[in-house]
Amino acid sequence: MVDVQNVTRVYASGSGEVRALDGVSLHLDKGDFATITGPSGCGKSTLLHLLGGLDHPTSGEIHVDGLALHSADERSLTRYRRHTLGIVFQFFNLLPTMTVRENVELPLLLRGTPSREAGARVDDMLALVDMERRADHFPHQLSGGEMQRTAIARSLAGGPALLLADEPTGNLDTTNAALVCDCFSKIASQKITTLVIVTHSDAVAELAPVRIRMLDGKILSRTAA
Ligand SMILES: Nc1ncnc2c1ncn2[C@@H]1O[C@H](COP(=O)(O)OP(=O)(O)O)[C@@H](O)[C@H]1O
Ligand SMILES: [Mg+2]
Repeated sequence: MVDVQNVTRVYASGSGEVRALDGVSLHLDKGDFATITGPSGCGKSTLLHLLGGLDHPTSGEIHVDGLALHSADERSLTRYRRHTLGIVFQFFNLLPTMTVRENVELPLLLRGTPSREAGARVDDMLALVDMERRADHFPHQLSGGEMQRTAIARSLAGGPALLLADEPTGNLDTTNAALVCDCFSKIASQKITTLVIVTHSDAVAELAPVRIRMLDGKILSRTAA
């Protein structure tokens, strides 16, 4: 499903360079649930961006769901991001003028899903993250945890083969973080998608059977699935 082979990502930085990733290899099977931890600056977000087709490696190969991301052109990457991928960010990125329901529905409508089918799908996703009762609220009427659960529903609406999350509980209090963790556990146990979460939180990291630790652009250790 995910196959990363000896990937480096080097950024130019002033007169020198930063090796954000330095020979990273990683294999995940379909339906795996992995968390990535490590100190700030160790390359976690860089790796996630590469898996999301948002950036290219300096060297090495990345295959996700049969697509060679390292050599894919912009058109294939756009298609990949729209059809194969879901992403959840630390700061939710909901559209403030749209309700919960409209936010979750938007990516489906952009893909041309017929509105009746999209509506049914949105209902299912809102139920999954326990947000049905808030469907007609606007983002400013929600708690941080509710906003993040909405963002998770939105990322899953299109049925992504791979869901990436970068510090999804980083901006939440403990109670809301726990509710968001419940959502990810449910998604993982139902094998809805391959799931990769970058996190500072031990509570989040421990949810996953595959735990990857990074340091200085390298993978330090990983538990078996
Ligand atoms: N666009 C960029 N340009 C230059 N250096 C960058 C860029 N993005 C990240 N870096 C550097 O790459 C390293 C890894 O960053 P990042 O992947 O964001 O780490 P993490 O998410 O683990 O905190 C850091 O040293 C960071 O400063
Ligand atoms: Mg980061």
